[in-house]
Amino acid sequence: MQRLGAGKLGTADVARRVRVSGWVHRVRDHGGVLFFDLRDRSGIVQVVVSPQDAAYATAQALHPEWVVEVCGTVSRRQSGAVNPKLSTGEIELTDATIEVLAEAEVPPLLPSAAEAPDEAVRLRYRVLDLRRQEMQQNLALRHRLLQVTRRYLDEADFYELETPMLTRSTPEGARDFLVPSRMQPGAFYALPQSPQLFKQLLMVAGFERYFQLVRCFRDEDLRADRQPEFTQIDIEMSFVEQEDVLALAEGLMQAIAAAAGWEVQLPLPRLTYAEAMLRFGSDKPDLRIPTEIHDLTPFAAAFSAQFLQDAVSRGGVLRGLRAPGAALLSRKQWDELGRQIERFGFKSVAYLTLAAGELKGSLARSLDSSRWPELQSAWGLEDGDAMLLLAGPEEAVSLALGQLRLILADQFGWRSGEHRLLWVTDFPLMEWSEEESRAVSRHHPFTHPNPQDLDRLESEPLAVRAQAYDLVLDGVEIAGGSIRIHERELQERVFRLLGLGAEEAQGKFGFLLDAFRFGAPPHGGVAFGFDRLCMLLAGASSIRDVIAFPKTAKGTDLLTGAPAEVSPAQLDELHLATRPAKQGT
Ligand code: AMO
Repeated sequence: MQRLGAGKLGTADVARRVRVSGWVHRVRDHGGVLFFDLRDRSGIVQVVVSPQDAAYATAQALHPEWVVEVCGTVSRRQSGAVNPKLSTGEIELTDATIEVLAEAEVPPLLPSAAEAPDEAVRLRYRVLDLRRQEMQQNLALRHRLLQVTRRYLDEADFYELETPMLTRSTPEGARDFLVPSRMQPGAFYALPQSPQLFKQLLMVAGFERYFQLVRCFRDEDLRADRQPEFTQIDIEMSFVEQEDVLALAEGLMQAIAAAAGWEVQLPLPRLTYAEAMLRFGSDKPDLRIPTEIHDLTPFAAAFSAQFLQDAVSRGGVLRGLRAPGAALLSRKQWDELGRQIERFGFKSVAYLTLAAGELKGSLARSLDSSRWPELQSAWGLEDGDAMLLLAGPEEAVSLALGQLRLILADQFGWRSGEHRLLWVTDFPLMEWSEEESRAVSRHHPFTHPNPQDLDRLESEPLAVRAQAYDLVLDGVEIAGGSIRIHERELQERVFRLLGLGAEEAQGKFGFLLDAFRFGAPPHGGVAFGFDRLCMLLAGASSIRDVIAFPKTAKGTDLLTGAPAEVSPAQLDELHLATRPAKQGT
């Protein structure tokens, strides 16, 4: 008898004799008649065993998570016993024979429990956790999205090519994971932060269209949407301009979303980086939040407050965020919001509130009341709303209001349910690093400057825009890419601006620069953070919920105990010695 999926059985199978195998999900004893749910990858089916059945003794011994094979007859349930929540809720298996394939100890985590336990327990007993329906569905979705991606890119004429995992460090801003070489004492491989340089080499080598579903490794501080090893859909194309890459990536995004049951309309909306910062105080704006930031500098004269006048006269800006419903916040809550923006250099947030027609708030007294009607209509402030105002240097004001927008969205539940996608384009090529006291690449040093800005590369490097773009879904950066520099001279110019001498550049990236000597096509590409994409499309709150065996925020694998010490003999073979960790590390 062919084995069938438990969750696939239905009324069409009534009277059929079937064989199913899986785990005992739940057992119930209803005054002699035993019911148990059998669970496999496809779902759950109920098995009923009566005292007169030959299988009764075996059924009585069953416990959750035992592995069994059941042969039974598909029967229609009595009308009162139908379970509409279950796809197999109209049927059950009767006249069963049961074979126990494996017994199980009492599990520390029950896959049938309504609530998932603490994450540490889930990660320690990951096998049991993965049996939970939510995790089964997340990983099944992950599989489907991978297959859609492969199919889409294959049909679009891309080659799937692999690049090395043991390589030389490529600078992408994070720390490398290093692997010591046994054969070359003192030398190290690095695990790739991304295949950036190799995919560019593949373009120089003439493959034209490349993709790879590739594991990347970055030793950085972890958050809910970051893992030390994660998967990218990595793409590179030759003889293209920015529009070609965006069109390809949008089409892929649409196909992936469709496989997750979400219809995406193309073309996707776009914002330049400058516009995103101005309106949302973020380079990855969450468009599900309906409110935006307004430049209120032209209204500064309406306020007498000294701090505000000082900030504007020093060349700063006055910006505001309309906060629907926030008039009811208490003084304590406003103070708390002020604390949340300390890291941007602010001590508090100024605000105006409108409640029962009355204007209040920390700035109410300093406002020239004759200007209020004009401001109210310009800002669209309604009864119950608040206006948050910050004055100071443009970037700090913008980032702080962007942060407050997110905090208030959490507090007031402002986000609409629908997913929102957009491109952010025209990123700055470089930014100033206080830490290193020099300009650093915003994306990576191979990003092509906007041709319109090439003449100010040396004179105003921080004002130069890049041909770089990010794809943002619900406030999360899910893909990033750029058109690359393919001209050796321009690449050297950019290296110089980044403070990288010719010798150092040759030492680090000689293999790429050398390749450029022999005819490099114009090229560009993009990489999707596949785990993040799965997380958002699965509606999961953590990237760990779409990865079978993830690491904790401290980079530990609670299942295997990695990272772990190795034997002195192994260290010796690798010409390594360890020393006690420095305090505080
Ligand atoms: P970038 O560094 O922007 O670009 O990475 C591309 C995408 O990968 C995802 N991502 C991560 N996901 C999980 N955990 C992490 N630690 C992590 N870091 C990044 C993000 C991001 O948008 N070589 C370039 C791409 C290119 O230019 O073609 C690159 O790696 O979703």
